[in-house]
Amino acid sequence: MIIGLEKVSKSYEKPGSLKKREVLNEISLKVDSGESLSVIGPSGSGKSTLLNILGTLDMPTSGMVKLNDKNILNYSESQLAEIRNQHIGFIFQMHHLLPQLTLLENVLLPTIASNSNNDKAGLERAKELLESVNLHDKIKQYPSQLSGGECQRATVVRALINQPGLILADEPTGSLDEDSAEQLGELLSKINKEQNVAMIVVTHSMELAKKMNKMYKLNHGKLVGMNNN
Ligand SMILES: Nc1ncnc2c1ncn2[C@@H]1O[C@H](COP(=O)(O)OP(=O)(O)OP(=O)(O)O)[C@@H](O)[C@H]1O
Ligand SMILES: [Mg+2]
Repeated sequence: MIIGLEKVSKSYEKPGSLKKREVLNEISLKVDSGESLSVIGPSGSGKSTLLNILGTLDMPTSGMVKLNDKNILNYSESQLAEIRNQHIGFIFQMHHLLPQLTLLENVLLPTIASNSNNDKAGLERAKELLESVNLHDKIKQYPSQLSGGECQRATVVRALINQPGLILADEPTGSLDEDSAEQLGELLSKINKEQNVAMIVVTHSMELAKKMNKMYKLNHGKLVGMNNN
């Protein structure tokens, strides 16, 4: 799967003013399958805005968002919902697990929404993935009975459950302590290498940013490539 932005701009109305504030200024970007990149930048620079546009959760003011060379901006909301469910895995700063569901039920949620996998295949995959992140003995526990790092590893599994071509992560280690953050970074990097899934990670952590193949900085509406040694 190839995802691309072409001259994407996004501006917001300024309250009480006729002027608009331009957050993203003609950003173009292409991400091939299996590529990984990180986006760093000051708070308020538009990183989440950019990620939400890539994930079709938000619309640009102008420009094109392409999936496999097709501009998806004129798709209907239900088509976009299907693309999100089938092709994109989301990981956010706060884990967003549902408290009333067990760990296993939480990670299986996207398969219920899509009906894509039959129940058994989904269940097998969930168990396999949970094993790979060392959560197999906790599948019947509720989020309140898990640590922050464990919850965040569970969201990685949930993001992978429908075998997406693209993972979008917005500060996935933002709420974790140093050790858990390091572990999660390793996990993301391993998934990117082993499963050939494209990955875009927004972060304030240089440690995590450096684990991706390419590093970009968002500043004053522009995305600038950085040396990543
Ligand atoms: N719905 C909205 N209406 C108006 N302004 C908005 C809206 N959403 C975001 N903004 C503004 O756009 C700018 C970029 O916001 P964004 O959340 O993308 O920043 P960020 O780089 O993710 O910051 P952080 O690192 O703090 O998460 C901010 O100045 C914010 O106030
Ligand atoms: Mg943000």
